[in-house]
Amino acid sequence: MSDTATLEIQPGRLFIGGEWQDAASGKTFDTINPATAETLTQLAEGGADDVDRAARAARTAFESDAWQKLDARKRGRLLYAIADGLEARADELARLETMDNGKPVKEARMIDIKESIDCFRYYAGWADKIEGDVIPVPGPYLNYTRREPVGVCGAIIPWNYPLPMAAWKVAPALACGNAMVLKPAEQTSLTALELARIAAEAGLPAGILNVVTGFGESAGAALVAHPEVDKIAFTGSTAVGKIIQRQAADTLKRVSLELGGKSPNIVLEDADVDAAVRGASMAIFYNTGQACTAGSRLLVHESIRDEFVEKLVKRAAGFVPGDPMDPKTRLGPLVSQEQLDRVLGYIEQGKAEGGNLLMGGDRVEVNGKRGYFVNPAIFGGVTSRMTIACEEIFGPVLAVQTFKDLDEALEIGNSTEYGLAAAVWTKDVRKAHVAAHKLRAGTVWINTYHNLDTASPFGGYKQSGYGRELGRHALDLYTQVKSVWVNLG
Ligand code: NAI
Ligand code: MG
Repeated sequence: MSDTATLEIQPGRLFIGGEWQDAASGKTFDTINPATAETLTQLAEGGADDVDRAARAARTAFESDAWQKLDARKRGRLLYAIADGLEARADELARLETMDNGKPVKEARMIDIKESIDCFRYYAGWADKIEGDVIPVPGPYLNYTRREPVGVCGAIIPWNYPLPMAAWKVAPALACGNAMVLKPAEQTSLTALELARIAAEAGLPAGILNVVTGFGESAGAALVAHPEVDKIAFTGSTAVGKIIQRQAADTLKRVSLELGGKSPNIVLEDADVDAAVRGASMAIFYNTGQACTAGSRLLVHESIRDEFVEKLVKRAAGFVPGDPMDPKTRLGPLVSQEQLDRVLGYIEQGKAEGGNLLMGGDRVEVNGKRGYFVNPAIFGGVTSRMTIACEEIFGPVLAVQTFKDLDEALEIGNSTEYGLAAAVWTKDVRKAHVAAHKLRAGTVWINTYHNLDTASPFGGYKQSGYGRELGRHALDLYTQVKSVWVNLG
């Protein structure tokens, strides 16, 4: 099939205990193609009853011999088989993701699907390497630790990278021997359902991975409240992260939160300007700005500001909104009408507060369809107080500020409540590392942007959340340590 071929998409049901089921209420909801605003299909609208069935199915499967007696190496092989299953259907999954989310199909294939496959392979390798310690304690005792699974883990994920967000949670959780209930974002549930199908075909025991589609306030909240769920891993907005942390208190669930960002991208006066211009445009326009690590605040040294912005505006003009199923398209639509309204609202607010809109920011039609497309927007004359410099917009909207020296750049850079990522462009190795150490963010890029790898930890400082996903750090989220004492006296 060519990249532009469309898929026949079946209505989605819940996947609970290894079976496809309707919601207890019988309710369904539409999932939309954001490039056309047309309905793709209907999904089961899971609610508290469905989450309850899924959590109990996960508990039963977790405690079963089929899972408890499966040795770790075989668990690893299941994860390799899931990776192979994803790879065998990679092109189709990329098209499905593009139709559901709107991201350019080439990026869906080369980034989202590839990264998801990598993630399963990486954690497959960890499954039989999760070791405890032997600890030298006083007295005639042997003390050792075991790293045991947490139990039933709930994952609540967003719509911007649907399959990778599922993989980042499901792969380490399964590698560590947990069972799972996954609640995908209501906007983009289709690839999560395919992941469940592929995992079952790979031989994962029934009930180890359950998927409940539905809305946050109902299905998501029920998962957070459920007493059989031992842990919640969440990626999404800071506002919902706070709700989840509060509600998790009732059952003392473990929580890990990967939340919003307002990442500063700092260009010092000695930077390679052309490289930094390329980096700055990709930092904000990649995935139509719908990335938690988006470089949404560009801080440029005042001495190079005019040259830099002129080149940036030229480069940004190359990000033309287009049909995401066309492999040449680099800028797809926003994910939903709601996100479109939010982004256009921020653009209006930026103008009203005195920002100087240098380009873009208008809604456009592609192929005569009222999809959720916006031209890339760049604001000059931005001050730290303006809303567009403080709040996460999650769209192709860049706020440009200037600074006099590195200290001021770092002060502005650290001035939001977020701390997910930051970048600095300079040829001065001392300044690069001073900046890397002083920026309060979970990831810092030097002369690059948006790098990410399954092997490298990822997560936030401040109100961007806590807990580190990816790399070996994620194993800490999905295991608990038991200390065992043996009397040798
Ligand atoms: P959201 O945080 O509401 O949604 C993320 C996930 O949380 C979805 O699966 C949703 O169903 C679930 N959810 C919502 N309310 C819940 C609740 N009370 N209890 C349990 N689960 C709940 O994000 P939304 O509304 O889609 O986007 C709003 C803004 O959030 C965006 O404009 C962006 O700024 C930010 N965002 C940040 C993301 C990130 O990667 N850090 C990802 C998605 C959105
Ligand atoms: Mg959708």
